[in-house]
Amino acid sequence: MDSVLAPKPSVLGLRDPSLLVTDGLVAGQWRTGASGKTFSVTEPSSGEELSRCADLALLDFVEAIDSAYIGYQKFYSSTTAKERGGLLRRWNDLILENADDLAIILSSENGKTLAEAKGEVSYAASFVAWFAEEATRSYGNTIPSSYHNTTVLTFKEPVGVCGIITPWNFPAAMITRKIAPAFAAGCSVVIKPPSETPFSALALAKLALEAGIPSSCLHVVPTKDHNASLELATNPKVKKLSFTGSTGVGKMLTKLAAGTMKKVSMELGGNAPFVVFSDADLDLAVDGAMISKFRSTGQTCVCANRLLVHSSVVGEFTKKLVAKVESLKIGRGLDSSTTQGPLVNASAVAKVEEHVQDAVSKGAKLHTGGKKPAGLKGFFYEPTVLTGATTKMNVAYEETFGPLAAIFAFQTEEEALALANDTEFGLAGYFFSKDIGRVMRVAQRMQCGMVGVNTGLISAAESPFGGIKESGVGREGSKYGLAEYQNIKCVTIGNIHM
Ligand code: SIN
Repeated sequence: MDSVLAPKPSVLGLRDPSLLVTDGLVAGQWRTGASGKTFSVTEPSSGEELSRCADLALLDFVEAIDSAYIGYQKFYSSTTAKERGGLLRRWNDLILENADDLAIILSSENGKTLAEAKGEVSYAASFVAWFAEEATRSYGNTIPSSYHNTTVLTFKEPVGVCGIITPWNFPAAMITRKIAPAFAAGCSVVIKPPSETPFSALALAKLALEAGIPSSCLHVVPTKDHNASLELATNPKVKKLSFTGSTGVGKMLTKLAAGTMKKVSMELGGNAPFVVFSDADLDLAVDGAMISKFRSTGQTCVCANRLLVHSSVVGEFTKKLVAKVESLKIGRGLDSSTTQGPLVNASAVAKVEEHVQDAVSKGAKLHTGGKKPAGLKGFFYEPTVLTGATTKMNVAYEETFGPLAAIFAFQTEEEALALANDTEFGLAGYFFSKDIGRVMRVAQRMQCGMVGVNTGLISAAESPFGGIKESGVGREGSKYGLAEYQNIKCVTIGNIHM
């Protein structure tokens, strides 16, 4: 591809250019921040600057938290669940009305293809629509008391101010998956969006305000200052911390949050096994691998990291997979013919390179890819397939977070399960089989929070998303996602004489 000029915000071709907001949102004001500084946001497809964004200061965070503390009390006491659902429904409608612009912003800052970006915007909206409904289905209990003349009731109450730290790989959906349930519950939020992709969060916030979400309940504080995350994790007014990112940072934040006993949701790293048994429908398995491995250029935390394929079908599976991988068209995300975008930055490319070199140096065989494509300026790496992967290689234990399909061969179901579970992570796992007994057995024995059987796509608003082991705690989306933003209050009413 020829040199790509970084599109400036004015030439992104947005129907509504006001959606490209470069200021932070604190206490109802769009502002450049107490420090007056800005940081550069790079377009991954070109490696050049897309725009600058306000770099807010710690003082702005503290102000946002103070405002959110007052804001949620007013919000919760002045709205019914139905009214909060109505606000979310309006926000959902605005997101869908502006989906094309939001997708352009998302694709520009993240690099994912326009088709994927549109898919993410509708995925983001689906959480808002889901929690608009869940808001009104948040029931308490009446519990038979063991004491005479006594009634026990439970109420669900909002936790209060929520600190929200989101990743760059889903700049829109990880915002809505966290804050839609927070608003449904009656909470307020202070968001630290990723510095790689702050603009989707800011555009969504603009639409949320238009929908009527009170400005005291929604603060978006872009910054490069890591102390901001520490403030969210330690400030006593913040009662809940929700983070999606690496396991290392998640552990550190959880330790800090324990200082004030905050409720935490941690969506952390994965190392998903993708198992193809000898009785699998191989075409289905290849399609599943394409989605699970190459979605967002391999940059989702539920991406297949290790492809475990029965030795009797590994040759045929590899041939079919390589054919599909070679039909991918690498390029700039905004180019409508592109089917595989860039990685987010140079260090993401270096990680894939390192995993490929390590595997090949230890005996893996390269079938396709294995290098940076010639002639492209951005952060690209060719979609890569290799076979002969073993547990001596880094890819066996570390998440590549890029377009590398490393194929391991196995002989028995026991061996496949042992390999699949040989990791400290437990986010997602996948397997393909037509044997119903095996489906039930393996689904129960895979050690992870989410299992895809005969499918490579497991994420949806109605499905609980989250991991076990070192992949984190808590669930997002689904009927369980709301509870993460609520406290249960038990009220015992004694001496009721009827
Ligand atoms: C993630 O990678 O954090 C989210 C992936 C998804 O929702 O499918």
